Amino acid sequence: MSFQIVGTGRAHPEFVLNNDMLSQIVDTSDEWIVARTGINTRYVSTHETITELSVKAADNALSKAGIGAKDLDLILCATMKGDYACPSLACLVQKEIGADCPAVDLNAACSGFLYALDQADAYIASGKVETVLIIGAELMTRHLDWTDRSTCVLFGDGAGAVVVRKGHGLKSIKITAKGDDELLVIGNTFCPSPYGKQPKLDPHFRMKGGEVFKFAVTSVLRDVKDVMKMAGVEVKDVKMLIPHQANQRVFQVAKEKLGFSDEQLAMGIDHYGNTSSASIPLLLDELIEEGKLKPGDIIVMSAFGGGLTTGACVIEL
Ligand code: COA
Repeated sequence: MSFQIVGTGRAHPEFVLNNDMLSQIVDTSDEWIVARTGINTRYVSTHETITELSVKAADNALSKAGIGAKDLDLILCATMKGDYACPSLACLVQKEIGADCPAVDLNAACSGFLYALDQADAYIASGKVETVLIIGAELMTRHLDWTDRSTCVLFGDGAGAVVVRKGHGLKSIKITAKGDDELLVIGNTFCPSPYGKQPKLDPHFRMKGGEVFKFAVTSVLRDVKDVMKMAGVEVKDVKMLIPHQANQRVFQVAKEKLGFSDEQLAMGIDHYGNTSSASIPLLLDELIEEGKLKPGDIIVMSAFGGGLTTGACVIEL
């Protein structure tokens, strides 16, 4: 297939919110949150914008790739909401890093990073471009109802970036969608119009946790098996499975059913929480920086989220 990952980067806000702090604003406890989700702390933006975090992650990825912004042919930002509806987050990143190429946002909720990888694959395979900057960035804490203990304890903020170039690292990739406005929802808000009523939607993140849990486990099991089969790799060939960091229990079940070991399971939820489309690229950069992943290693990434969407791929680093 079409590309190789040549650089990764990440950025997160400074402020660390721990579970005890949350128990001072909602009826919850460190014990409940750790046992049900695996989350200890998460980063929460107090002043950082999503553009600032994305630019920092992008600069980081470009410098590790050893290329300049002018070498980019395309910028794809996976996000549910940039700082503005217009201009896009991708255009603001393009301006700040000094790139001179097309730039566009795409929204596939927590599967956004996999959707962006899939688009980069198609663009590069078609011969239209050679080098793509992909960012997964989300300030999920902007969408939370801080009085709802069933959701406000789950999320954090961050941005992860990768630079991909024409090459042979991508072994297989798949994405799926199944439209649903019941299980995971964040409503838009609209300006009043003299010509008609605008829908009044709840702007907070709302989730049917139990049903999403089942959807998550089922889709990770299905997608990981599919992309491994497409790539012709077995569990023993895989250095790490990097699942979307939504709930530790989801990927513990998936790990056991798929036959991966504890060492093969990438874990970042304990210190990031769920950062939606940023979760996989944030963790990928951290694992590479810590020397846990090296060139030549085979990784499997798997994401699921609102839409409902899913995505998975096999990549040789
Ligand atoms: N602290 C303490 N108790 C809480 C709580 C909190 N933060 N949140 C919910 N509870 C309570 C509930 O009110 C309920 O109490 P009750 O039995 O008295 O009614 C009890 O805990 C169990 O709630 P339930 O929703 O069944 O818990 P759960 O084990 O399903 O865990 C989630 C809830 C959200 C952690 C879990 O469903 C989940 O992770 N789902 C998938 C999330 C996900 O993957 N999202 C992806 C987004 S991309």
